[in-house]
Amino acid sequence: MQIAIDVGYSHTKAVSLDCRAVTPSIIAPFRELPLADLSRNGTGHIVAVRRVNGATTRHFIGELALREGQGATFTLDREKYLHPNHDLLVLTVARLLGAAPGATLVVGLPVAYYRAQKDAVRRHLEALHADVSVDGLPFGRVSFGKVVVYPQGAGALLTVSNLPESGLVCLVDVGHKTTDYVTVDIKGSRGTPVSSLCGSVEFGVHRVLEAVAAEFEARTGAPLDMSVAATLAAVSKTTFRGRELDLTETVAAARKDTARAIADRVLGALGPKGDFVAKFYLAGGGVLALPELKEMFPAVEVLPDPQLANAEGFLKLISGIEKT
Ligand SMILES: Nc1ncnc2c1ncn2[C@@H]1O[C@H](COP(=O)(O)OP(=O)(O)OP(=O)(O)O)[C@@H](O)[C@H]1O
Ligand SMILES: [Mg+2]
Repeated sequence: MQIAIDVGYSHTKAVSLDCRAVTPSIIAPFRELPLADLSRNGTGHIVAVRRVNGATTRHFIGELALREGQGATFTLDREKYLHPNHDLLVLTVARLLGAAPGATLVVGLPVAYYRAQKDAVRRHLEALHADVSVDGLPFGRVSFGKVVVYPQGAGALLTVSNLPESGLVCLVDVGHKTTDYVTVDIKGSRGTPVSSLCGSVEFGVHRVLEAVAAEFEARTGAPLDMSVAATLAAVSKTTFRGRELDLTETVAAARKDTARAIADRVLGALGPKGDFVAKFYLAGGGVLALPELKEMFPAVEVLPDPQLANAEGFLKLISGIEKT
């Protein structure tokens, strides 16, 4: 069995040939919930993980963790795979996909960390195994026989079916914390990555939430949790201590500024060679959060299902490799 997992700073995306799973990358410690709470908690997961030594831990994952507030964590560390949440997310989504023990797994890494971290990530995931139960279902063993690590963004490019026959194309994967860009030179039906035109900029949708949180704090004197900022950025209005708070203008300006900054950084990094890119493909959930980006790149196409494009591409890659 083959599965592909894209552990993002905001969402973990996973696909197999016949299944897909997306969950916010947020985890909170488990606590017993009153029955009334449970019936309202239709989304998110309760996960139990039993390690080889028999120790079992329980967690709220995704929307359920978000609602729990305090314990929820966004992980913004650079070495994401060393954070305990990373393994819990991988184990959870692998179990949600029904991955058989010893499955082949493909994961992504930001282009900027690819060279330095890929072997460590592969070894780490090949050593990972545990019995996992999601939402009270029976425990099942999750382990990976073979792990392939692939640069983020390059995965998404593999889902494009109508690539030009020749010339440079650039895939821009706009994420929560990082935006990756991968440029490929196409000749005949083969594409070769141009390493001087591939990289990551540490800029993503997170900046919009920071601007919203800063404005909220300026107006109310109270700090704003990032998970609440995400909700506020989506709806723009809320009531705080009985007062209506309208952040419509702040959200609109932050979105425009963030989109502009992402486009400027990517186009700036490509330099004069960027003018020779025949087509820009946009992927990542950031394109949905910042539709303004479409206007900021020349000759642009947004991939269908942009948030899942990397994971879908990873799966294509591994089914290609294992067939040959
Ligand atoms: N349908 C949508 N509408 C609006 N915003 C969205 C949508 N889907 C995703 N987003 C937002 O887009 C951002 C990027 O999502 P994505 O899942 O690509 O990020 P990520 O892969 O977790 O981040 P990174 O690549 O930095 O690790 C997130 O802030 C997410 O909340
Ligand atoms: Mg991503």
